[in-house]
Amino acid sequence: MKYTVVDSYEKLSRLASNLIASQITVKPSTLLGLATGSTPLGTYKRLAELCKNGDVDFSGVTTVNLDEYAGIDRSDINSYYYFMNTNLFDHVNIDKNNTYVPNGKAEDLEAECKAYDERIKNFGGIDLQLLGIGFDGHIGFNEPDSEFVAGTHVVTLDESTIKANARFFESENDVPKKAVTMGMLSIMQAKKILMVVNGEGKKEILEKALFGPITPKVPASILQLHPDVTVIYTPENA
Ligand code: PGA
Repeated sequence: MKYTVVDSYEKLSRLASNLIASQITVKPSTLLGLATGSTPLGTYKRLAELCKNGDVDFSGVTTVNLDEYAGIDRSDINSYYYFMNTNLFDHVNIDKNNTYVPNGKAEDLEAECKAYDERIKNFGGIDLQLLGIGFDGHIGFNEPDSEFVAGTHVVTLDESTIKANARFFESENDVPKKAVTMGMLSIMQAKKILMVVNGEGKKEILEKALFGPITPKVPASILQLHPDVTVIYTPENA
């Protein structure tokens, strides 16, 4: 595992976007696993700039996002579908038909989960997965549990996750209680993992995940078993 600490959010965003851009340059048909949250915003902004300058070409790239709130419409400004379009896809030359976010409004969520895993498998797995970490140690919306869950599945969000995400909603009550998340198998089968983390507040859980015992109580701790993980952390807030 490569654990890099940088002194600014700007540096984190620069490093992370360079790694993603290099991946795409080396393999133009990359299957890129993407994440939402505040931390990747700077990375996405810089990828858009690189693309505008002709330094990265998204035309052959396919993306799969980690998660989506259940029961939320894609047009909702709080949907992760909307987040990805406004923060990245609208600003790069990607074919939007090749961008996938779980459909949290699917009539049959179980079938949606199965189809999501099948799609990733049919692509031959994720080449590079971008991750953040939650205050409770979650990756995607894989919340602390008694076991690691392999497949894409529906989860009930933790109180701490609902509280943390309330900043995007009018009130805490408006945060959906359930979500669809990619499971640990697709994440762990990604050829490379890039985790971005910012803020003093995340340091304790990050170091617990990276250096503590491997346990589903700290979902991100499973990454210790992955052969190619890069973590970039800055104490500076986004
Ligand atoms: P953040 O969240 O990027 O907003 O810190 C990451 C997460 O909760 O997974």
